[in-house]
Amino acid sequence: MQGRRVLLIVGGGIAAFKTPELVRLLTGAGAEVTTVLTDGGAQFVTPLTLSALSGTPCHTALWDLTRETEMGHIQLSRSADLLVVAPATADLMAKMAAGLAGDLASTLLLATDKPVLIAPAMNVRMWDHPATRRNLATLRADGVLTVGPDEGAMACGEWGEGRMAEPEQILQAIRDALGAPSLVERPLRLTKAMRPAPGAAVTPAPGHLPAIAGPLAGRHVLVTSGPTHEPIDPVRYIANRSSGAQGSAVAAALRDLGARVTFVTGPATVPPPAGVTVVAVETAREMRDAVEAALPADAAVMAAAVADWRVVNSSDRKMKKDGSGRPPALEMTENPDILAWLSRDEARPRLVVGFAAETDDVVANATAKRLRKGCDWIVANDVRPATGIMGGTENAVVLVTEAGAETWPRMPKDEVARQLASRIAVELARTQAGANGLDDPGAASPGAS
Ligand code: C5P
Repeated sequence: MQGRRVLLIVGGGIAAFKTPELVRLLTGAGAEVTTVLTDGGAQFVTPLTLSALSGTPCHTALWDLTRETEMGHIQLSRSADLLVVAPATADLMAKMAAGLAGDLASTLLLATDKPVLIAPAMNVRMWDHPATRRNLATLRADGVLTVGPDEGAMACGEWGEGRMAEPEQILQAIRDALGAPSLVERPLRLTKAMRPAPGAAVTPAPGHLPAIAGPLAGRHVLVTSGPTHEPIDPVRYIANRSSGAQGSAVAAALRDLGARVTFVTGPATVPPPAGVTVVAVETAREMRDAVEAALPADAAVMAAAVADWRVVNSSDRKMKKDGSGRPPALEMTENPDILAWLSRDEARPRLVVGFAAETDDVVANATAKRLRKGCDWIVANDVRPATGIMGGTENAVVLVTEAGAETWPRMPKDEVARQLASRIAVELARTQAGANGLDDPGAASPGAS
């Protein structure tokens, strides 16, 4: 989304508290964000917050004379690649449908020649009201895109459809609307077996078009990635050659299937994907704490190359040569094994996937590792330098499960990630159905005949 311009209009609903996070995600993904706050929106979030996060002034008033002499609102409405309304209140939707232009937000929406995406948020009765349904139909017929709303508990204490989509979902819908390159390149066809069991995940209600309708919608998946750095002193550390490429690709693929992803990453060279919650750590112990803090999760994919050892007494000061010609002796101790700990923890995700970088006897070592660590699957690969896998763009993996070892052909890391994410979706649907006492996960799906 580098350089893409988004004009974000923040309406007056309690869900406005989520928009600063959306601004952060958008700017993190490289978008240029300009914000507009309605009077109602200003009751929930301040112009200062939006200005600070977007790095540009937040617009609030239509009658800003300096701007009006320059036809500011027309320029503003057309200088963006996309207009996003989040939250889109019943009032704003009604104004849009009727073509009213009594304030800055509605004027911009009427004056624009750019696509518009709305993230409705309101009380369930208001959402279900025939007037809102009519307005929604009008807006859709006008080509307005929608994301959400979701079903769930509302601030007013009621339950139902009307909760604004989560910022990550809105970000993905914005990507879709802008045709950003990391769109779902090959949308997964939802087979019966992949549909979640009742109550297991957010199921799109008929009659509205969620931007993310994937087999992992409503699931939380934790991914660890990258190397860890273990300090020797303030300027030196022990590291490894992991780039974080495979972990980033796995997180992006899970996100593209609709999962909420927490991405715990060491200092990787490949940037984290957009639309995931990034927790940046340095050491193995920090990574363990971040993993624990991110629980509960439906699944965990531990792709990080965690350092096995750390220096016992790392120095607070830079170590210096003492003139004796003798190098310092570094005493090492073992780091926590995050995968082994998580696999046996009482908050263990239903599916725990480990990675194994091996230089020989890949299948035998990975099979033993699966049992030793207590995880469900091991994705094993041969990292001998001749394979070019470590730090490269391709991977050749063996998936070791309880059922045995599957050798996958060599393919780009992105494709390994997509295949793995699809398998995770199938496995979560299968185990959910099992937990519900159903033999056939397909039979559990709302749309199954
Ligand atoms: O034992 P080995 O390092 O080969 O195990 C690799 C797997 O275990 C990977 O999934 C890695 O993320 C995980 N691991 C871990 N904590 C460690 C070492 C490895 O989570 N301290």
